[in-house]
Amino acid sequence: MITVIGSINMDIVVETAVFPKQGETVFGQAFHTVPGGKGANQAVAIARLGSDVHMVGAVGQDAFGHELRTILQQEKIDDTYVRTTTTATGIANITLFDKDNRIIVVPGANADVTRESIDAARALIAKSDLVVMQLEIPQHTVEYALTICEEVGTRVLLNPAPAENFKAAWMERVAYFTPNETECADIFGVDVESALERFPNQLIVTLGAEGARYYDGEKHVVVKGFKTTPVDTTGAGDTFNGALAYALTKNETLAHAVEFANVAASLSVEKFGAQGGMPQKDAVLKRLGGAQ
Ligand code: RIB
Repeated sequence: MITVIGSINMDIVVETAVFPKQGETVFGQAFHTVPGGKGANQAVAIARLGSDVHMVGAVGQDAFGHELRTILQQEKIDDTYVRTTTTATGIANITLFDKDNRIIVVPGANADVTRESIDAARALIAKSDLVVMQLEIPQHTVEYALTICEEVGTRVLLNPAPAENFKAAWMERVAYFTPNETECADIFGVDVESALERFPNQLIVTLGAEGARYYDGEKHVVVKGFKTTPVDTTGAGDTFNGALAYALTKNETLAHAVEFANVAASLSVEKFGAQGGMPQKDAVLKRLGGAQ
């Protein structure tokens, strides 16, 4: 059983062939509203793979909040600890341009994930095999959740996105830490190799389409990504994190868990929307079976 503590957003997505300059107006090609938020995305990724998932978060008492809660329920994610607050539901303004995305998050109700939210879920956290967190909820709430996880003896996988909310002292408090290359450089201020060597089997750096890497205490391990043709890379990192969490709670080795997560992420980018392409376990196993 996995508990995800994190953000729930509505993604407001615009597809454009031209990225406007400052002060310029251009025409875009398409507009969508789709479910997102790094917390909810990771919870959906885990649930689709077949784990029992519980979400701790917050939405507003507006149409987006209602829709996002319904989606969590449809994905069979327990939403008992998702509060409804008077703040507007969080949104992410996403521009899809040149096969990549630019994202601005307005946290809204995600800022209402508080110490009280964590206290309410304490017994659930204690029963969980793993707690998964990101950094789109308040920094002090993440810090408090780390304290509660320590008190009840539950391991934490922390995906430090966005990295600006990270505190270096947290490294001693997490079992797994999964920045991308940019986040790794921002957080540690050294090259990836040096950072990895400081945290063997704990720091896993994602490399986008190139896969992911970690240091096993003796050597650097690069687990290559599965080559595919992406439709939308939004949520690929969340799929990786969700699948990694899933595999680690099934007692897979880190090498196998990273390979499984890479393949899940490769499937996720083949469809539109952060959650649109997140795979079921069978699809991952099928592709893994054929992986080079
Ligand atoms: O990681 C992708 C997610 O980041 C999007 O779904 C968006 O909501 C932002 O949180």
